[in-house]
Amino acid sequence: MQLQLVLTLCVILLCDAKLPRFRQLIQPNELPANLTQNSQTLRHRQTESKNEKTSRIADQYRQRHRRDVFDSTSYESSLIWAHSERLDQNGDVVLRWVYSDSSITFRLEARTLGYVGLGFNTVGNMRGADLVVGWVDDRNGNAQIVDCHGPEHEDLPVADDVQNYELISGYQNATHTTVEFRRQLNTCDRQDFVIGEDTVQVLWALGPEGSDGQLPKHMKSGSRPLRLLQPVSKPETIPLKHWDVRLTNLTIPHDMATLFWCKIFKAPDLPKKHHIIGYQPLIDSRPIKNGKPVADNNSFSPVHHMVLYECAEDEDKHLWNVWADSDGYFGPIRPSGWATCARPIAAWAIGSQGEFLPESVGIPLGEDGGVSFYMLEVHYDNQALHDVLDSSGIRVHYTPALRQHDAALLGAGIGVSALHVIPPKQRRYRTVGICSSECTDTTLPDEGINIVSVLLHAHGTARKIALKHVRGTQELPRISEENSYDARYQQSRVVPGGRKFKRGDTLITECTYDTTSRTKPILGGYSAKQEMCLSFILYYPRTELAGCYSMTPVKEFFETFGVKKFYGLNFTQVENIFLSSGSLENLPPQLEIDVKQRSTDETAKQGDDQGVGLMKELVIVEPSEFLNKSFMDHLNEMPWEEPLLTEQIEKSLYNGMHMTFCKKRDDSWGMPIQIQNYPAYSELTTNEASEKSCNYKSVRLPSVTKSSTGAAAHTTLSSITLLVCISLAATR
Ligand SMILES: *[C@@H]1O[C@H](CO)[C@@H](O)[C@H](O)[C@H]1NC(C)=O
Ligand SMILES: *[C@@H]1O[C@H](CO)[C@@H](O)[C@H](O)[C@H]1NC(C)=O
Ligand SMILES: *[C@@H]1O[C@H](CO)[C@@H](O)[C@H](O)[C@H]1NC(C)=O
Ligand SMILES: *[C@@H]1O[C@H](CO)[C@@H](O)[C@H](O)[C@H]1NC(C)=O
Ligand SMILES: *[C@@H]1O[C@H](CO)[C@@H](O)[C@H](O)[C@H]1NC(C)=O
Ligand SMILES: *[C@@H]1O[C@H](CO)[C@@H](O)[C@H](O)[C@H]1NC(C)=O
Repeated sequence: MQLQLVLTLCVILLCDAKLPRFRQLIQPNELPANLTQNSQTLRHRQTESKNEKTSRIADQYRQRHRRDVFDSTSYESSLIWAHSERLDQNGDVVLRWVYSDSSITFRLEARTLGYVGLGFNTVGNMRGADLVVGWVDDRNGNAQIVDCHGPEHEDLPVADDVQNYELISGYQNATHTTVEFRRQLNTCDRQDFVIGEDTVQVLWALGPEGSDGQLPKHMKSGSRPLRLLQPVSKPETIPLKHWDVRLTNLTIPHDMATLFWCKIFKAPDLPKKHHIIGYQPLIDSRPIKNGKPVADNNSFSPVHHMVLYECAEDEDKHLWNVWADSDGYFGPIRPSGWATCARPIAAWAIGSQGEFLPESVGIPLGEDGGVSFYMLEVHYDNQALHDVLDSSGIRVHYTPALRQHDAALLGAGIGVSALHVIPPKQRRYRTVGICSSECTDTTLPDEGINIVSVLLHAHGTARKIALKHVRGTQELPRISEENSYDARYQQSRVVPGGRKFKRGDTLITECTYDTTSRTKPILGGYSAKQEMCLSFILYYPRTELAGCYSMTPVKEFFETFGVKKFYGLNFTQVENIFLSSGSLENLPPQLEIDVKQRSTDETAKQGDDQGVGLMKELVIVEPSEFLNKSFMDHLNEMPWEEPLLTEQIEKSLYNGMHMTFCKKRDDSWGMPIQIQNYPAYSELTTNEASEKSCNYKSVRLPSVTKSSTGAAAHTTLSSITLLVCISLAATR
């Protein structure tokens, strides 16, 4: 009995990466051999189930020899690994997976002959993470995995009470350890992560050679965001043509922290309509060192996002041809005619590998036969301030084999401006952008549209984004939502089964931000340091509607922050400045920026500031307690740690007045600007019933339950058992 207790706890410690003493006393590559046999716990079970599965897999491969001891080096999985991602930069850790409605199967290939760790969490560290550790025993080639978790306050893996990961196979060759295993998406175990639709931080760690079974500290580790449950876009069987829309040798000066560059491109001259069915980023950024651009692996590319817009060009093709031959323009000072390039057709953001559209839809190209024009907008986020020579862009894949539907992208959410304020020190601060019922009623066809997929876009402090759908006074299920948003990973999300969106329905993009680490308010804007809240919606059939946004009306905005009057400009005038932010002609001269002059002013370095500069220029007259303060200073000095204050502001801006914009593809208004209340509707009650109901297993390793009475007891027991384990190993 006593022995059993000890051995069981040793198994728990196997997940502990910080046990150097273990390492000295046990020969590398060896586990206390009788550990498995003696304890009635996981190892035993795993070996058993492994043999079972091994033979099952071997049976499936009748053409191969059946082996008593499974020689996995000749094993190739029967599974088609639908997904494959490098978890690290170098490709030392490759994760492949395939999933069904209830389970997910992984293949982990890692450049190590020690252990390999994989984990899932919403934050990129081990605390509270679901972990699984696998290795191949050097002596007998047997693979093992252990289901572990990271305690809340310590960076070490501890074995789960219930083992929910099933080993399928594993082997090692001269360089790599490969393990395949499976688990339920929801294991109903509080020590495991529920794998769902949201983005998950996938953690990885590589143990040093010979560390199978003992887990000294890893040699390398990291994490990357991924969405595990997303449909694969089928590889095209027909040959595709491609059109590379890219800048050539644009020099980005080191003092431009944010730069928007726009350039017009002439589409390929096509005799008939084609369909764009996908696009991929072309990232080519060369840091300039000692005056010379050096070839690089793009790991420091400042390209943050790129959008390709279709232009509704006028009769004067000559001017468009001239523009297409030019190098392009700094965003804020681009020619006003470019405003007609308003319909997005491809939106790429950092972390995405590009998109292929669902099979039934394509975006028309060369529709009228002949040339059409497109505008590429590249946002450089050069906060590291390097000189860079850039030739990035988008590769557009198109085909003459037309698909069933002509699709288009619709931009929705909060109009990008400094009026989108997110207070600091907030755990869950929500803002909202409305695409009004009036707008969809005027611009959509009688039969409505079908939404196919959505790209949700915000910056670094966003944690959740939801695209809501309201019909009449009832909220329908979310069109799309992400509850663990990571701005480094922006891939569009297919709407399963599509969504019928009718004329007169309302779209609401809601963003939730976590600014607990910030001390100053964040204002809306294009810079990666500012925030956004947008959705790019792919739908069919194509309509004229291209953009549908809202923002807080200026008067309500300033009054919410307690300001009644500024020097020099009344609220109407301030509002006009915000509304004209597309063309900066009406702005005070000090806000105009010329990229070529490279002003040393901080605002200029941050590029197109969408009114942030104006916030610093506006000086308060009323109320007298804020007299002679700039609005920005006032905002910075508000007592943001007061929950009553921030709740009030959040509520007032969320549920208050919204100024709505309804833009057509040629930049004309689908409907005049309106100021309206937040729509009244009954919220969708979160459908708890549809979630898998879990009987949480409370099975614990018997000895632990018997002997320990809480966490403190656990710690002491561990150190005692450690000694016993060592002496056991030493006497072997
Ligand atoms: C493990 O224990 C069994 C009895 O339970 C014994 O026969 C065997 O020799 C032991 N193996 C090792 C490697 O000590
Ligand atoms: C890419 O280049 C950077 C430095 O330019 C280097 O630190 C990094 O290791 C390189 N990565 C790869 C995969 O070569
Ligand atoms: C070892 O295995 C890894 C992962 O399966 C594979 O990529 C690599 O090519 C293999 N190396 C050799 C020498 O077979
Ligand atoms: C761009 O710059 C690179 C490196 O300086 C040079 O090799 C290339 O010819 C340039 N391309 C064009 C189109 O000017
Ligand atoms: C704001 O100022 C403009 C220009 O002086 C004036 O025409 C307008 O009536 C003023 N609006 C309000 C609401 O006072
Ligand atoms: C506020 O500024 C105005 C002019 O900018 C000045 O005349 C006035 O004295 C200042 N008031 C205070 C209280 O500083």
